[in-house]
Amino acid sequence: MERIVIKGGRPLKGTIKIGGAKNSVVALIPAALLADGNVTIQNVPNITDRDALFDIVKFLNCDIKQDGNVVKINSSKLRNTLITQELSVKLRASYYFMGVLLGKYKHVEMFFPGGCNIGNRPIDIHLKAFKEMGATVTKRGHKYMLDAEHLHGADIKLRFASVGATINIMLAAVLADGVTTIKNAAKEPHVVDVANFLNTIGAKIIGAGTDIITITGVKKLGKNVNYSVVPDQIEAGTYILMGALLGKNLKVDGIVPEHNQALFEKLEKMGVKFTLGDTYVILNKSRKLKPVDVKTLVYPGFPTDLGQPMSVLLTQADGESVFEETIWENRFGHFPYLIKMGAKIETEGRIAKIHGKTNLTGTEINATDLRGGAALILAGLIAKGKTTIYDIDHILRGYENIINKLSNVGAKIELEEYNVE
Ligand code: EPZ
Repeated sequence: MERIVIKGGRPLKGTIKIGGAKNSVVALIPAALLADGNVTIQNVPNITDRDALFDIVKFLNCDIKQDGNVVKINSSKLRNTLITQELSVKLRASYYFMGVLLGKYKHVEMFFPGGCNIGNRPIDIHLKAFKEMGATVTKRGHKYMLDAEHLHGADIKLRFASVGATINIMLAAVLADGVTTIKNAAKEPHVVDVANFLNTIGAKIIGAGTDIITITGVKKLGKNVNYSVVPDQIEAGTYILMGALLGKNLKVDGIVPEHNQALFEKLEKMGVKFTLGDTYVILNKSRKLKPVDVKTLVYPGFPTDLGQPMSVLLTQADGESVFEETIWENRFGHFPYLIKMGAKIETEGRIAKIHGKTNLTGTEINATDLRGGAALILAGLIAKGKTTIYDIDHILRGYENIINKLSNVGAKIELEEYNVE
């Protein structure tokens, strides 16, 4: 087994390059199966969620080749069989095979997806939309079977602007008969990226990035395409927060600044020093930080996936910050460990009062989920002494080369083998 060991307090200087967006690529890999030709995807991050999707793509008898950050997929020999529980529980995004296979073959059988333990994570919004498009849904235990004699366009109003449901509906609708309208659609950058990819392979989607997306079904998707994944808004935000805590002219490069507008607004209010360029930001540690209230919201609001890393910055502000998580029920799994390190945090439901400034001290802690794990790395980097983080698989699911990226800018962080007793 491996654990992460950090010796805290080192300034971060140099450049961190941001990779392709995890939450886009986990949809683009399944989406590639909609195309009849060869699909080349550039800027695919080397994360374990990617590998879990590769396993499903191979299981469905498709060709997949990977060379560094370039992935080539050909689905001409696809065999549409039951996706096993073992494969689908490895990641939440396995649910995108539902939209893809329903769209292409009008039939899909798979088990309920897995993913981080951050809440209930139902898929009722996805299933309701598929039914509105003419599919029948049969559930036996954890197994779902979807069939559509006639998959057709529909006027779909989402009760919540779900990222997964918006993408899944687009995946099914691109090959459905007629026009599908998604109202109250999610507007996250990765939703727009998936729509751009689908249009590149021949789909007709307009309005991605707004509340209303319109998809006109086509008969066939294909031709050989080459697509590059949008930079990861959340990876960028995580390193930006590290720069706010420890930066010495730390450059976070290859970003789309407007995707992190909500974060930059909070940093400005706190008094963080940063200089924004067209595709980069340079950050310096501030001696004094003001507290700020943060409420997570759908895009363009403050992203839920940056809430946990942000909470670490709030422990370093002088005074009380109120942090509210509105998207997931259970995104405070890292708090007991921050408290163990010396943070002062009181929680009531989904609201946390964070009292700063507190000095953090290194200790042994556990990553409970992906972004909570990233938050613990932030805490370890600023803590006095040695921090050891266990259960790091959660972190490696979504952060490409995090150890190298941080070591290269001066952090004392390494992976260490250990024996489980
Ligand atoms: C995506 O999850 C991301 N995951 C999450 O990132 C991210 O936190 C989330 O979007 C919000 O931005 C992937 O892209 C793989 P949702 P998703 O559907 O699509 C409720 C990370 O750390 N809901 O927008 O599953 C749901 O319970 C991960 O990278 C229903 O009730 O999120 C939640 O409260 C974690 N019924 C809210 O909506 C449904 O059918 C948001 O879910 C679907 C969702």
